[in-house]
Amino acid sequence: MKYLIKGGKPLCGSVEISGAKNAAVAIIPACLMVDGVCRIENVPMISDVTMLLRILREMGGIVRMVNKNTVDIDCRPITRPAAEFDMMRQIRASYYLIGAMLARFGSARVVMPGGCNFGGTRPIDQHVKGFSALGARVELGNDMVVAEARSGRLHGANIYLDVVSVGATVNVMLAASMAVGTTVIENAAKEPHIVDLANFLNSCGADIRGAGTNVIKVRGVKRLEGGSYAIIPDQIEAGTYMAAVAGCGGEVLIQNVIPRHLECISGKLREMGVEVENLGDAVRVTRDGPLGRANIKTLPYPGFPTDMQPQLSTVLAVANGTSVVSEGVWETRYKYVDELRRMGARIQVEGRIAIIEGVRRLSGATIRAYDLRAGAAMVIAGLIAEGTTTVEGVSYIERGYEDIVLKLRGLGADIISVTEDDPKESLRSAM
Ligand code: EPZ
Repeated sequence: MKYLIKGGKPLCGSVEISGAKNAAVAIIPACLMVDGVCRIENVPMISDVTMLLRILREMGGIVRMVNKNTVDIDCRPITRPAAEFDMMRQIRASYYLIGAMLARFGSARVVMPGGCNFGGTRPIDQHVKGFSALGARVELGNDMVVAEARSGRLHGANIYLDVVSVGATVNVMLAASMAVGTTVIENAAKEPHIVDLANFLNSCGADIRGAGTNVIKVRGVKRLEGGSYAIIPDQIEAGTYMAAVAGCGGEVLIQNVIPRHLECISGKLREMGVEVENLGDAVRVTRDGPLGRANIKTLPYPGFPTDMQPQLSTVLAVANGTSVVSEGVWETRYKYVDELRRMGARIQVEGRIAIIEGVRRLSGATIRAYDLRAGAAMVIAGLIAEGTTTVEGVSYIERGYEDIVLKLRGLGADIISVTEDDPKESLRSAM
């Protein structure tokens, strides 16, 4: 699949934000630990989520779609703490099954995680540190992670994470929630999806306090019971549409958001001369004047989200003046810059730093998505650019953005999704 975009138009109208991908990919594996049926609402229907639902089914779980965004999950029939399916190499969040399996079964056999490769390495040493502290023996090798609680069941521990890690915080919280005794996780990640997972687990009978701060206390419980839970709106999807309006100009009402989660993004856009109005469960984003430059440093929440860096760097490529972007979370995350250069962007990259000299316009080109958020940035570049842009590799984008073509067309964007081999002529006529 690829997207064909005719850019240079402002965006106008309203768009509904879906459930948060990074909350859903933690909450769905957590259902493995629950002794009952979990009804999860506001689930984004994106490929990372459908992949995890398939994995639970392959393991023997009962997964029933109630409607497009509501699913009933019953993992009681699952008896084997193992997930060795090739498809697991495609997503990162499959490793949350390790924490969930250790909690319920005291052991786990899971394929090493895959996920977006945007440059540097994505180690899991902090996950291993956490599981070991809880009393598990962990072996990595042959592309597998094998873990076993030495005494058959995990025990509470005090764990200080050497780096602020969303994944390690999630995995340790999962494993600790049914351990014997109390666990304290220090230097924990504070992202909204961490809080959402804690709220889900507590709704099932867990005893987790402090999520959203850097110290999380987990008192292990014997059993988690089923119930209903609605996932929070996606902070990064919302931020992506906010960035698109900043880049294209126009006025868009972005509905079903939690403005507090968007503070850092809103603040940065206001610095650039974009109007962002908080309206309770929506934000209105307006840009009808010149776009100013800004400096960005990505940091763990509540800092500027790294998952918004490619999207905002793309907007800065057409801002007035020179901006400096510093990637504070990942070793590097600038693979997408070469694609922007082909559209006329002037960006220099040195390690974690990108110097972006704003240009008057970008020109349409054929560009490729190399990972999920870089893919979203390519779509924004196409919407901003004069002329037609073809974005290839869009399967990455569809891992994290529900109905992105539909939602953008609803804002007046000229974008269509076509199969790779569609002749260009038929596409132009469709535009
Ligand atoms: C989660 O990845 C997100 N993915 C990422 O979003 C996001 O970029 C990242 O958190 C940071 O917010 C999901 O939630 C599924 P980390 P994760 O562990 O958990 C280092 C997207 O686009 N580290 O917080 O893998 C690591 O190298 C994706 O939705 C270790 O050193 O990220 C990085 O420098 C892309 N050892 C930093 O910590 C470890 O054991 C933060 O990583 C783990 C991490």
